[in-house]
Amino acid sequence: MDRPRILSTHPLFDGPRKLLNDNFDVEYWSGARPIPRGELLARVRDKQGLICLLSEKVDEDLLAHAPRLKLAATVSVGFDHMDLAACTRHRVAATNTPGVLDETTADFAWALIFAVARRLPEGIELARSGAWEGWELGQLCGADVWGKTLGIVGLGRIGRAVARRAAGFRMKILYSDRARAGAETERELGAEYANLERMLGEADFVTLHVPLLPETRHLISGAQLARMKPTAFLINTSRGPVLDEEALVRALEAREIAGAALDVYENEPGIHPGLLGRKNAVLTPHIASASLETRTRMARIAAENAVALFSGRRPPNVLNPEIL
Ligand code: DGY
Repeated sequence: MDRPRILSTHPLFDGPRKLLNDNFDVEYWSGARPIPRGELLARVRDKQGLICLLSEKVDEDLLAHAPRLKLAATVSVGFDHMDLAACTRHRVAATNTPGVLDETTADFAWALIFAVARRLPEGIELARSGAWEGWELGQLCGADVWGKTLGIVGLGRIGRAVARRAAGFRMKILYSDRARAGAETERELGAEYANLERMLGEADFVTLHVPLLPETRHLISGAQLARMKPTAFLINTSRGPVLDEEALVRALEAREIAGAALDVYENEPGIHPGLLGRKNAVLTPHIASASLETRTRMARIAAENAVALFSGRRPPNVLNPEIL
């Protein structure tokens, strides 16, 4: 019997690749750059499965180009690039990779907190430049992290992992969310519920951990930034459009906040030009989950979802179970 044909827009890593190769006829995109849209549409046409990345839109247009498609498995937890309603209309199962990147992403949120507070990029640049003239009392003084107030917007899996790490820095933790966490969770994390307004006014570090939904788009805009302390820092490892970049640039220019550290952007891979040259904006290219261990786990989960679907089982991470 013919094996299902799969397009993977990335060569993946050895383990997940083997799992796919053992079960399917797989065509991999291994170009140095992400697959161009035209290539994607052309190559997906005769495939039953697609393993894709969050930079590739799975929308009505793509689905219309892929009449045989039964599965779209994204190698990411976020699925705002997938039109789930369209997937359901086309009877395509959509899957994601939750649960394996929370700790790695939380590590990175902390890396950003320290990078922006302690002016790490500037220090690295000075040391590497060969222009450092020696120890100086006022040189590159940043802000302490320990003992400060951490504001977590969204106490989901990643938000909680961020909170757990704060204990070692003896920080006060405030969190805001649509719904309040249980008393036990609050006790375990030492986290206090606060509405967004209060948290923005009190936190020294505000870190965003909400998914991108219509109600979280521009959750942080001019009015919210204006509530923050002029000494406070904003960190975003969630999704770019949760933060209004234009408003952030204005707030940084007006020194309404002390700095920002961003891993995600409104129009990736584009970054607002007003952020690019700023010393108090630490910018990384959407790599919060990018440890080899975690990215391999993510790819494996995508492959496992494919194996499950094509062997007649329910994919463990199906996002539109109504089609099964
Ligand atoms: C995701 O998985 O959604 C992250 O943004 C990338 O790991």
